[in-house]
Amino acid sequence: MLTNKIKWNKKQRNMATNSLDNILKTALSYSNDNAFRQDVYYLAQKVFSLSYSDLLIERQKIFDDTIFIQYLNRYLSGEPLYYILKEAPFMGFDFMVNQNVLIPRNETEELTKLLIDEINDNNIKQAKIIDVGCGSGCIAISLDLLIKDSIVTGVDISSKALKVSKKNSQRLNAKVNFYLSDCLDKVIKRNERFNYLISNPPYIDQNSFVQKSVLNYEPPLALFADNKGLAIIEKILKDLDKVLLPKGKAYFEISPEQIDDLIVIIKSILPNYNFIFKKDINDFTRFLLLEKE
Ligand SMILES: C[S@@+](CC[C@H](N)C(=O)[O-])C[C@H]1O[C@@H](n2cnc3c(N)ncnc32)[C@H](O)[C@@H]1O
Repeated sequence: MLTNKIKWNKKQRNMATNSLDNILKTALSYSNDNAFRQDVYYLAQKVFSLSYSDLLIERQKIFDDTIFIQYLNRYLSGEPLYYILKEAPFMGFDFMVNQNVLIPRNETEELTKLLIDEINDNNIKQAKIIDVGCGSGCIAISLDLLIKDSIVTGVDISSKALKVSKKNSQRLNAKVNFYLSDCLDKVIKRNERFNYLISNPPYIDQNSFVQKSVLNYEPPLALFADNKGLAIIEKILKDLDKVLLPKGKAYFEISPEQIDDLIVIIKSILPNYNFIFKKDINDFTRFLLLEKE
């Protein structure tokens, strides 16, 4: 855990300006960790508005490093980089984030890509899709932007999260319909049906170990669920059949330890559904796919 605060020496601090080479060398001297190095590069790119290749070739260029040092100190104190920058990358887009929404994760990009491939490879037209627990809107908005003719809805129980997703939809010129719903309760009341449901629900068991920077900054509502982390996915599965059109499919992100419990739940609630689990890029079973007969 890095706790040291950056203190530039007198010469370096002289005019709040510094060469990029000096700024990066000083920052990187705080850790040899590869993830730290990548984050420092990303921070420099964002703060100084540079591309990755600029970072390599503009080393002698002089910058005002005041903001960079402030941000780096917050990062060294444990604050997640993307909350400091107020935006996070997902599927090639930059999403506004704050502490009311989860920071989009790489695994969730994989889940989103699975659904995009399913729809594009099968040439499905005007796919109606719902994202349950939309948070920042990263999944729903990416689907809207990357699948031609798709009709996308996003729901969340948090009105504060919905404020962020609606803003992201505007910023990125998407046309997602976002509204408040406790899982599928409101969706069923509105009598809406979909070809696809996608969800990255809160799935962490309350007793699991969670990194300090996640625990201290990310919203608990987005992370934890009762019943070994299964409460929210189980509630969605109980209502799945009411919102899926014939031959409809559902895509979930899950925790690898939940497979056995999920098999029991699915066999009892949705006996007529086919289902498979898929692994993520790190070889963890991370996705559950269901298909209505
Ligand atoms: C793991 S986050 C996922 C956010 C976003 N989809 C993503 O992948 O980055 C889970 C989201 O589910 C929402 N949520 C929690 N309980 C819910 C419920 N009962 N009904 C609807 N949404 C819920 C949280 O507010 C949070 O935004």
